[in-house]
Amino acid sequence: MSKRPKVSVIGAGSVGGSVAQRLVEHNRYNVVLVDVVEGLPQGKALDLAQAGAVRGYEGRIWGTNGYEETTGSEAVVIVSGFPRKPGMSRDELLETNTHIVRSVVQQTVAHSPHAFLLMVTNPLDVMTYVAYRVSQFPRHRVLGMAGALDSARFRTFIAEELNVSVDNVYALVLGGHGDLIVPLVRYATVAGRPLREWLPEDRIQALVQRTRDAGAEILRLLKTGSAYVAPSAAICEMVDAIMADRKKIIPCSVYCDGEYGLKNVCIGLPVKLGSHGMETIVPMELTSDEQSALERSAAAVQTLCRQADRLLTT
Ligand code: NAI
Ligand code: 2OP
Repeated sequence: MSKRPKVSVIGAGSVGGSVAQRLVEHNRYNVVLVDVVEGLPQGKALDLAQAGAVRGYEGRIWGTNGYEETTGSEAVVIVSGFPRKPGMSRDELLETNTHIVRSVVQQTVAHSPHAFLLMVTNPLDVMTYVAYRVSQFPRHRVLGMAGALDSARFRTFIAEELNVSVDNVYALVLGGHGDLIVPLVRYATVAGRPLREWLPEDRIQALVQRTRDAGAEILRLLKTGSAYVAPSAAICEMVDAIMADRKKIIPCSVYCDGEYGLKNVCIGLPVKLGSHGMETIVPMELTSDEQSALERSAAAVQTLCRQADRLLTT
């Protein structure tokens, strides 16, 4: 078998299938796709393997209902669990998805004790916290994806509004993945110039609101599932940053131990990703309003983390 690093994807639904496709098309990884539904990961993996003959990729991809094949994975993307339905909040998934994530993490770490765990399942920050607690991995190996997606959405809306290439737009969204995201408007730039020199405040706030509601907007349109294409792109950005030691600063959900004044909670902060996973939490100077917004967001996640603590003791 080829000597590519093994990356496993647990959950072969919409996001998991799309993540597996991006990873295998990258031609740098061998990929294992796992799901509890018999036939689903096997079918998606076969389909993806056969596409390699046309697209010219050669990494292996397997589908399985067990964990044996995941043994020795260098990174594991955990995207198993229920998505919300229209009208639901992400937080309503907490109880069901805590049970799923606990069992998935236990089986994952038993087979890949040195892996990086990259969380996607919602409610994202709480599931990252559950993975951190259950795995007992050091925090630099347990990271959640949301800030990469929320930042991509904010950048997209800014670029559309100004009719410029999204390549010219830099923006960072911190905080929890939900109604209390914390877009750092003051640090957003277009071609190096502050966003506030390009747009009036009311237009900026409209774009912030659209970013906050971006997941729900897609959910309303799709009706039967939530977003998966941009989410899979965002998680693969994190996988690549770690596996290629890119030292890329991406907002990720991480366990806080006093950084930004936050403790015992996972929340989105700017993280430098490289071959050690989280290499540093990057300090940024925040105004008192920005700091308060981050603390409000963290307090909401903290309440849910304490609920998860109770579920994990049952
Ligand atoms: P989906 O319903 O298409 O797929 C979920 C898959 O998980 C299903 O195939 C299901 O059989 C599988 N699954 C359930 N229990 C399992 C277990 N114990 N072991 C292995 N597999 C199991 O859902 P979708 O759209 O792929 O979303 C998955 C999760 O990711 C949801 O919680 C969703 O809210 C979240 N999500 C998070 C994003 C973020 O920004 N963090 C973005 C998009 C989705
Ligand atoms: C989103 O924001 C479902 O959390 C996911 O699209």
